[in-house]
Amino acid sequence: MQVLNGGMVFMRVALLTGGGDSSAINAAIRAVVRKGIAEGFEIIGMRNGWQGLIEDNVEPLYMGSVSGIIQRGGTILGTSRSNPFKTERGVERIVVNLRKYGIEAIVVIGGDDTNTVAMRLKEHGVNCVGVPQTIDNDLPGTDYSIGFDTAVSVACDALDKLHTTASAHHRIMILEVMGRDAGWIALIGGIAGGADTILIPEVPFTLEEVRERIDKRRLVNKDFSIIVVSEGARPEGQEAQFTRDQKKDPFGHVRLGGVGIWLAQQFDELGGCVTRVTHLGLLQRGGATTVSYRVLACRLGAFVVAMVMECKFDRMACMRDNRVVAVPFAEALDGTKTADLKLYEMAKLFF
Ligand code: F6P
Repeated sequence: MQVLNGGMVFMRVALLTGGGDSSAINAAIRAVVRKGIAEGFEIIGMRNGWQGLIEDNVEPLYMGSVSGIIQRGGTILGTSRSNPFKTERGVERIVVNLRKYGIEAIVVIGGDDTNTVAMRLKEHGVNCVGVPQTIDNDLPGTDYSIGFDTAVSVACDALDKLHTTASAHHRIMILEVMGRDAGWIALIGGIAGGADTILIPEVPFTLEEVRERIDKRRLVNKDFSIIVVSEGARPEGQEAQFTRDQKKDPFGHVRLGGVGIWLAQQFDELGGCVTRVTHLGLLQRGGATTVSYRVLACRLGAFVVAMVMECKFDRMACMRDNRVVAVPFAEALDGTKTADLKLYEMAKLFF
């Protein structure tokens, strides 16, 4: 770090986006670049997450680089699920590249995996700060993670659309949404979208109770039902989640999916109703960011730069009670922030 004439601080800072993308990342990149340059930083973008830093795939970012991107989904830097700790000489190459460019700190925008790498790099003398970004909203340190709101809006919109066709055909509609160990998208999307049943990973379900709820609705002359289910939900007594295949990503996660189809098959076997399944999949990641999350991304992005200026490393910029605070990685990433079970109880009012 160098103090220039006029008190400005010169520092070269790397910026990367890792893990599954979401719709507010570009808004956060824009905030980091705008605030960083205004404070005298040079911002070097790393392409495709940690991969860029390992492979020396860099892109200097200027004010112009981030023009007109606040509303755009995806990430202008690209992303990957690359894990330096599982890549041959990954960490060593990161340290060499940081030295080569004279980079003193890294801002990472990502979820649990990306931020955990940032935390572990401290042992190798690398200064990192994080911005929480995951549609799953499952990071314990923060009330909200950028990307969540758009995913929930997509789920709610899908439920609105499924309602009309479900009612026209008198069917049971099952919507499978993302949510590995935390059912936030199903819970919030399901409440907002008027689902009759919400199934989340936190609360194993029985077919009997789901069927009872459907029958209960039929007694009040409602001849269609809407079920929203997280990909990580499973029936009582079943240890394993439903998976697409057993291949693991570099962080050891298998691809989940299939609980919706499984449910439909069970209903078909029981008979008496027609069932259809919609797998929302990657549609949850795209689209223009909601207004409030554009603002959230701007706040977190600007704050994380201030953290770097104050050398508050090894922390994540988090939202708590509508305030942005710097929370140590070890605390911010401690476990999984599962869905609010009190809210789930309230949601049952509408089942
Ligand atoms: O980022 C987390 C997540 O949204 C999980 O809910 C889901 O299992 C996973 O991403 C799917 O990611 P991909 O399709 O990119 O492998």
